[in-house]
Amino acid sequence: MTQLLSSNDPWKTDELTFPRSGRLQDQLAFCVNYAVLAPSIHNTQPWLFRPLDDAIEIFADRSRQLPVTDPDGREMMISCGAALTNLIIAINHFGYEGWVQYRPEPGNPDLLARVRIGRRRVADHWDESLFRSILRRRSVRRPFQLRPIPRDLQRRLIWLASEYTCWVHFVESEADRSRIATFVEEAHHQQLQNPAYQAERSSWIGSGDHRSRNGSNRDSTDETGAPDVTRSTSDGAALETGKVWQERDRDLIQSSPSLFVLGTSGDSPLDWLRAGEAIQRIILLIESDNISASFLNQPCQIPELREQVRRMSGRSGPPQLILRIGYNTGVGSPTSRRPTSDVIMPQQP
Ligand SMILES: Cc1cc2nc3c(=O)[nH]c(=O)nc-3n(C[C@H](O)[C@H](O)[C@H](O)COP(=O)(O)O)c2cc1C
Repeated sequence: MTQLLSSNDPWKTDELTFPRSGRLQDQLAFCVNYAVLAPSIHNTQPWLFRPLDDAIEIFADRSRQLPVTDPDGREMMISCGAALTNLIIAINHFGYEGWVQYRPEPGNPDLLARVRIGRRRVADHWDESLFRSILRRRSVRRPFQLRPIPRDLQRRLIWLASEYTCWVHFVESEADRSRIATFVEEAHHQQLQNPAYQAERSSWIGSGDHRSRNGSNRDSTDETGAPDVTRSTSDGAALETGKVWQERDRDLIQSSPSLFVLGTSGDSPLDWLRAGEAIQRIILLIESDNISASFLNQPCQIPELREQVRRMSGRSGPPQLILRIGYNTGVGSPTSRRPTSDVIMPQQP
């Protein structure tokens, strides 16, 4: 198996090296190279996989949860849901049906899903398009083209989300767009006042002189491309840098052709997992039309602001994610990933 996962960079996986005539377990391990390309909160990549003889399991990796930003593990679960979507798309691409059992062992809450492998099947045009999108997708935090998103596509996204028991609310009016910008600003403001939040963020998002826990070695910019507030030498300087984030996010929100909230009816770990699956399907679907997305999720991390987003969306269930989408102006380079071999669990004897 080590040989199959030899590349240290999953983005560079060569699909021609898929072990067509190998054991199913090795083929499933190969598919993990694509699962790990999913987005994750602070690029934490909080997942582990166990390939079996006729199935593959995905686990939450609690050691990579963010206790300050994400104390309930909600965004960790959403990230794992996104990886599950990539995994199934890769399994389909390499010619198998995959059937998901959610939380198959109630006594083992970190075992999130088991994907049972069904019959052989020939990947169709739709499978191929989603598979290509996995490799092209990036969180794009630059301004988008001003071109509007087709109405018809909005309807498809709402329908797609409903397949995962999720709702989507498009933020249409200028007043609501401005309210979202205010919520994001307020969330930044509150998080910047919290040294524990800043320390956590710093340990995950790389700065020039160290490699952060997620394996990235970015320079002094935050995950959104602005100067890293955690490297500011004083509280005053940190707040100044924070203002750069706030202004940049307000500009991005005001100039985005489309902004939406994705939510669920309940607020359980299974709802979070399914929200992650839904959002990744949506992002991969729009990517095939050259439309990109980025997350503006801070208001969902603060209970009072999350409640305000829910009210604005006019739903009874909680919001899980806020995203902006639009036509991209170019392809950026990918953020780094851990080597796939780090996330494959050994088989039980
Ligand atoms: C649940 C979740 C929440 C996220 N929240 C934010 C956010 O609030 N702001 C942001 O800029 N990126 C956010 N991201 C995007 C991650 O930072 C991004 O996926 C990660 O850095 C990897 O980069 P990539 O998506 O380009 O592969 C979020 C991603 C997930 C899955």
